[in-house]
Amino acid sequence: MPSSKDRFYSVLAGSHYHLADVVDKPEHARKRKMMAAAYALKNLEEWEHKVADKMVRFLRAADTVCTAPLPMGQTHPDVADLAFDYRSYTNFFTLDAIADIGLSELLGFLDAGDDECDAEDRTDGSLRRVKFREALYATARAQSEIVWAYDWYKFNVWLSKLLSPRYFSRLWKLNENWNDIVYHRATKRLSRYDKGEKLSDFFQVLMEDQRSGQPHNLEWGELVAETSIMMNAGSDTTALAMANVMYLLLKNPGALCKLRAEVDAALLPDEAVAPYQKVKYLPYLRAVLDEALRVIPPTTFGLPRRTPAEGLTIGGQFVPGDTSVSISAYVAHRDASLFPEPEAFRPERWLGDEAKALQSGFIPFSTGARGCIGRNISYLEQTVLLASVVHRYELALTSPDWEPERVEGTTYQMGKMPVKIWRRDPAALGV
Ligand code: HEM
Repeated sequence: MPSSKDRFYSVLAGSHYHLADVVDKPEHARKRKMMAAAYALKNLEEWEHKVADKMVRFLRAADTVCTAPLPMGQTHPDVADLAFDYRSYTNFFTLDAIADIGLSELLGFLDAGDDECDAEDRTDGSLRRVKFREALYATARAQSEIVWAYDWYKFNVWLSKLLSPRYFSRLWKLNENWNDIVYHRATKRLSRYDKGEKLSDFFQVLMEDQRSGQPHNLEWGELVAETSIMMNAGSDTTALAMANVMYLLLKNPGALCKLRAEVDAALLPDEAVAPYQKVKYLPYLRAVLDEALRVIPPTTFGLPRRTPAEGLTIGGQFVPGDTSVSISAYVAHRDASLFPEPEAFRPERWLGDEAKALQSGFIPFSTGARGCIGRNISYLEQTVLLASVVHRYELALTSPDWEPERVEGTTYQMGKMPVKIWRRDPAALGV
């Protein structure tokens, strides 16, 4: 029997399991089958206009802070020109996108340049304004720091508040904000469903079978749990991937130049939002995205699995039953026998016949029955955003040796990424 998800997931689960933390295999299969229709490749067309709409808003925000070009030879932009936080805006992009794809809600973070939103107190229904990302990141951080002693988790949550009123109490308070943010998203969307609105989104798929129209009759707790994982897994990882790829391209101008040439040849000079149809099969673009996911996978920590009772042979070594095992994608992606010069950002390694062999060691989305179900949606978002951005703008980091702050939790978090941004020379585009 193969391994299953580790107790790690049940320890962190709420009153009801969601697709990512359910351990029981038949229960997982039921959920995955229900959601498969929403995530299927053929449904991407369904979501593309929602992504394109977010792209328009992203470009509008970036256009307003565009500066004059960086003078030739100048490597350090003026501090006043570093007005666009690429990390925040790519995160606003993925949050606005998943809220629309998942719940038909327009969060408006890109328009506001801010992630303040309503959270709903789960006991009295009152609303308050909170910051979305701060709540999400704090939750991941607190959990990932103390989850590891599984049997002690609940006690350790209590103890951490007692011993660390400044640090942990603050994180757990923000975790309450996260729970109330998710709760509010679900109550709002359910009330639209109850009013008879038929919307094209994931929530509709949770409510009814798409072919027969038969209701799934899920418990309220399961609806909230599924809303939580779509707003979490569906936003943070993709946003990190988007910021990481731009960071790596700005550090590797040769690769950026090649990418731009490929994208420019596919798009009309004045095309602002890249139509997915035109860019989805661009080989260098896909190689750039995959190479960035290899060098800096958004999910770096080893995703824990449990060996079956009879034990399991893994990589030629017998591991006894009921043991936690894991491999970090960050580590696996540095296997020099598969990825020579693993630290180098070399999109070319993904091109040509030998590239197929690399797939066996490429696990940013994990693999198998518990691999990422949102992979296609993520590539849709990443592809449209990167193509549109490199076609329209030039960007510069604070300095060529600039490095972001990074903290590893359940994802490999990144701090701010301030850039100078300016419109490309129309002559270079042939306008
Ligand atoms: C670059 C972007 C992404 C990366 C790197 C990524 C990575 C992963 C990984 C590593 C897993 C396995 C987690 C585990 O075993 O604990 C996973 C599962 C999952 N991802 Fe993603 N993900 C991305 C984008 C998305 C998006 C856009 C969505 C939703 C729209 C999504 C939804 C999910 C869900 C629901 C699962 C659980 C699947 C299951 O257990 O059946 N992900 N993802």
